[in-house]
Amino acid sequence: MKQQLGPGVAIIGSGSAVPEAAVDNQDLSQIVDTSDQWIVERTGIRSRRLADAQGSLTAIATAAAQGAISMAGIAPSELDLIILATSTPDDLFGSASLIQAQLGAQRAVAFDITAACSGFIFGLVTAAQYIRTGVYRNVLLIAADVLSRWVDWSDRRTCILFGDGAGAVVLQANECDRLLGFELRSDGNQNSCLTLPYQGQPRALTPGVSVAQGTYQPISMNGQEVYRFAVKRVPEVLEKALFRAQLSAEQIDWLLLHQANQRILDAVAQRLKIPSQRVISNLANYGNTSAASMPLALDEQVRQGKIKSGDVIAASGFGAGLTWGAAIFQWGR
Ligand code: ACO
Repeated sequence: MKQQLGPGVAIIGSGSAVPEAAVDNQDLSQIVDTSDQWIVERTGIRSRRLADAQGSLTAIATAAAQGAISMAGIAPSELDLIILATSTPDDLFGSASLIQAQLGAQRAVAFDITAACSGFIFGLVTAAQYIRTGVYRNVLLIAADVLSRWVDWSDRRTCILFGDGAGAVVLQANECDRLLGFELRSDGNQNSCLTLPYQGQPRALTPGVSVAQGTYQPISMNGQEVYRFAVKRVPEVLEKALFRAQLSAEQIDWLLLHQANQRILDAVAQRLKIPSQRVISNLANYGNTSAASMPLALDEQVRQGKIKSGDVIAASGFGAGLTWGAAIFQWGR
C-alpha cells in the first residue's frame, strides 16, 4: 500500500438521492421534436429524474449526505468540513451552510465550489488536501445539481441530455493513502463550448453609473465540440493520473466516468482498452446529472455490492469551464 508522511485519505461512505418524478424519452417527444430511438442511439439515455417546483438542491443534497454519513458510521457532529460541488445552488451565496445546519453538523465548516461536471473530482482532490495536511479528519463531499432549472425545454439539442440528482462521499484520515493519483486541468479558451451565462441589462443608477440587472440564460452547448474534447482529453488525463498512481489501465477494477453520454464512455474505455464490464454506467436511468453523476453511479454500484473494499477505481470528470480531471482511488479503508 502507498504510504506517505502526512495522514492518508480513505473514502469510507457514499450516498445518493434523486427527485421522484421520472421523465422518459417518450414523454420528451411530446415536448420537442425528438424520438426515443434518436436519444438512445446518440446518447444511451432513456429516462431522467427532475425536481419539481417545490424541490430544492438542498433537499436532495442533504438526503445524499445522510446516506454517506450513515455508511461511514460517523455522527454528523464528527464532520470537520463539508464541501458542496454544484453549479446550481438554491442560493448564489452558497447552499453548503444550509445543508450543514440540516445535517446537524454544527462543528463543520461548509462552502460551495463550482467546477460544473468536474465538480466531484475537483471536490475530491480539494477535500483530500485538507486531510493530507492534517487540518481535518472527516470531510463530507456532496456533488449535486438541478440543471432542469436552467435547461431550455424547447431546445431538443440540450433538453434531452440532463437530469437532476445528488451524490456524496465521506473522506477520512487513514493510515494508508487510498487516493493513489490525480490530475486536474482547465482551459478557459474553450469556455464558450458550454455555458450558463449571466446576462444583465444596464440600469442607470446615478449620472455616469449604471449596474447590470438580469438573470442566467439557459444552457448553451456546442455538442460536437464537447464530444471531441471529452474523447481526447479524458483518456489523456486518466493516463496521467494512472502514471502518478504507478498503475496501468489493466490493473483497475472500475472505470467511473462523468455520465454524459454512452458514446463518450465507450470511446474512452476503448482507447484505454478497458472491457465494458468494468465500465460503470447508469446514465440510461438518470441522464447527465452534472456534478452528481459520478457519486450517484458510485453509490449505486457500492450498494449493489459490486464495488468491494480495496477495489481500484479510475475516475474522470469533464465539463464546462472547460474543466476536466481524473483521480485513481481504492474504495474503503
Ligand atoms: N432529436 C432528434 N434530432 C435531433 C436532436 C434530438 N433531440 N438533437 C439534434 N438533432 C438533430 C440535429 O438538428 C441535426 O439535424 P440536421 O442534420 O438536420 O441538422 C442532427 O440531429 C444531428 O445533430 P448533431 O448535433 O450533429 O448530433 P450529434 O450526433 O453530435 O449528437 C449530441 C448530439 C448527443 C449532443 C452529441 O454531440 C454529444 O453527445 N455531445 C456531447 C455533449 C455532452 O455530453 N455534453 C455534456 C458534457 S459536459 C457536461 O456534462 C455539462
